[in-house]
Amino acid sequence: MGSVVGWIPLSSAVDWAPPNVDLKSDVAHSARVYDYILGGKDNFPADRAAAGEFTRSLPNLPTSMRANRNFMVRSARVLAAKHGIRQFLDIGTGLPTAPNLHEVVQQVAPESRVVYVDNDPIVLVHARALLTSAPEGRTAYLDADFTDPGAILESEQLRDTFDLRRPVALSLIAIVHFIPDDGVVQTVIDQLMAPLPPGSMLALTTTTADFTPDEVNAGVAAYRANGIPLTARDRGTVEGFFKGLDLLDPGVVLAHRWHPDEEAAALSDRQVYMYSGVARKP
Ligand SMILES: C[S@@+](CC[C@H](N)C(=O)[O-])C[C@H]1O[C@@H](n2cnc3c(N)ncnc32)[C@H](O)[C@@H]1O
Repeated sequence: MGSVVGWIPLSSAVDWAPPNVDLKSDVAHSARVYDYILGGKDNFPADRAAAGEFTRSLPNLPTSMRANRNFMVRSARVLAAKHGIRQFLDIGTGLPTAPNLHEVVQQVAPESRVVYVDNDPIVLVHARALLTSAPEGRTAYLDADFTDPGAILESEQLRDTFDLRRPVALSLIAIVHFIPDDGVVQTVIDQLMAPLPPGSMLALTTTTADFTPDEVNAGVAAYRANGIPLTARDRGTVEGFFKGLDLLDPGVVLAHRWHPDEEAAALSDRQVYMYSGVARKP
């Protein structure tokens, strides 16, 4: 079961790499590899070495990661502006990266509330940067594991932040590809969506080898050799994760093809390794 921490008071947030947190800095972590490739500085030599290996197999990984992040921004804006969503449960948050989800949705509706969840101690250490809500809204951070939905749903952070009579958007951006078992992913999604009212949404991105099988299969092997169980999935499997929900137009597509802005529209299908989709609970 994932550990569940209480609210992190702003004054107690600690500086980079505190001695009391075991960051396992000698092995690569997905959050820190992602941070490094996106230009962040919260990473260690092991993460940078692994990122070098991954980009040798996946030459468009930096572009693909930016396209994934850009999808998060576009889809969150649509959820807030067009669907009136004011509550967001973001699991697999990653290290703070501007703009963070709450900054995107609070630009549309300052009263929006976001509960961030990650299981990596490095993200916990930096959670202060996620607790910068507009005064009209609220953000909370929970240290928990995706595969323990009960701990997430029963957490004080979620209960104190959300009104579960109102729709919630479950945001699973670049996380389920770290869970190799399709059945586990499906069960957890079902359990997380079950208590949410009609009108709630699911936004998801995950790695695929459908367009660039040689690159992605080599990349998956490189991630796994570094202890990160990356898993690529085909379109049918990803569509299956939305079962019982109504997929919004245009369905499950590569991340840059979901209502592209100018930057996304300039990308080709060989440059993006991520499927994306957004669906509504009827
Ligand atoms: C590639 S990052 C994605 C960050 C962000 N969602 C984005 O797309 O910009 C994946 C994040 O998922 C987290 N993660 C991986 N497995 C997890 C699990 N089982 N439970 C919770 N978080 C997990 C990692 O710690 C990391 O921060």
